Amino acid sequence: MSRFLNPYLHAVRSYSSARSEFDASNYLRLDANEHPVESPYNRYPDPMCTQLVESIAIKENLSRDQVLVSNGSDQLIDMIVRAYCMPDVDRILSFTPGFSMFDYVAQVNRIAIDTLALDDQFDLPLADTLGYIDKSDPKIIFAVSPNNPTGNDLSPDRLLALVKAAPGLVVIDEAYFEFSGRRSYVKLLEENDHVIVLRTFSKAYGMAGLRLGYALARPELIEDLKKVRMPYDVDSWSQSVALSSLAADELNTSKIIQARNELRDRLQNLPQVKRVYPSDANFLLVIFSDAIATYRGLLDQGIVVRRRDKQVPNALRITVGTTAQNEQLIQALKRLA
Ligand SMILES: Cc1ncc(COP(=O)(O)O)c(C=O)c1O
Repeated sequence: MSRFLNPYLHAVRSYSSARSEFDASNYLRLDANEHPVESPYNRYPDPMCTQLVESIAIKENLSRDQVLVSNGSDQLIDMIVRAYCMPDVDRILSFTPGFSMFDYVAQVNRIAIDTLALDDQFDLPLADTLGYIDKSDPKIIFAVSPNNPTGNDLSPDRLLALVKAAPGLVVIDEAYFEFSGRRSYVKLLEENDHVIVLRTFSKAYGMAGLRLGYALARPELIEDLKKVRMPYDVDSWSQSVALSSLAADELNTSKIIQARNELRDRLQNLPQVKRVYPSDANFLLVIFSDAIATYRGLLDQGIVVRRRDKQVPNALRITVGTTAQNEQLIQALKRLA
């Protein structure tokens, strides 16, 4: 148990299911009220994701008790807020433009959330953040790097200063980390007992449909999160597919990175494009002269991108596609020019 855990969770023991109490693989299994006819799906999955956790731990050079796999990193964000924040007592901090899940999770859990504006390079506003920390004592700070929807990595020196100053937990969401080419912030776990790094199989691994994310942290934080986890939250199919993909080490981000850089150059040459922000992720934030008209014009041609004009005036967020998909986008934009 960590020093951050909600007091009312101290006495809660993580839910223990039939399969977590007993490794039944070599037994006649009459313990979990499953259907007796064997099929690939009649048995509950391994609730601890033992092999997948082990494989991630080896890859990240961590111990097994520093890894928690769950049903997408969105779910982990909710678990983190539930484990550490008391409704009407604690506050959390995130940044804008940013990932909308933090607001949503705060709202459904009745936790106050404050949002500070990133600076004009979409980097952390360090002085504002330090001032805010002094005044408001946030229980959790969420920092996303590379950031969604802006695409940039936050400056490591600013992020490290934030980690140093934070009175509570710092969650570093690295959903797009594999596209960035920098080193992971996982190394911070060695010296910090208040950092959680989030990763996902949804982006670089191409497995958004499986719903698999994981948290990396000190063992006491992982233990906390297990208290609010639902049993069997990762199904057998997802566990085995993710495991094979880690074993095959088949991650290949270089094509997407190259396509992203080419797409950025081509977009910048279009007359209706005012600016394309540099990206360390698998998407680009693009400022158009009229984002809504462009959005509708693309829809009319069968292409959907993401409106982000409420966060950044005239911005659309465009996911990098294959060479052919990017070509289709450029041709559609040319027709709208
Ligand atoms: C910054 C960030 N974190 C987390 C997620 C969600 O990841 P998952 O699919 O693992 O729930 C996303 C998805 O878009 C994201 O942009």
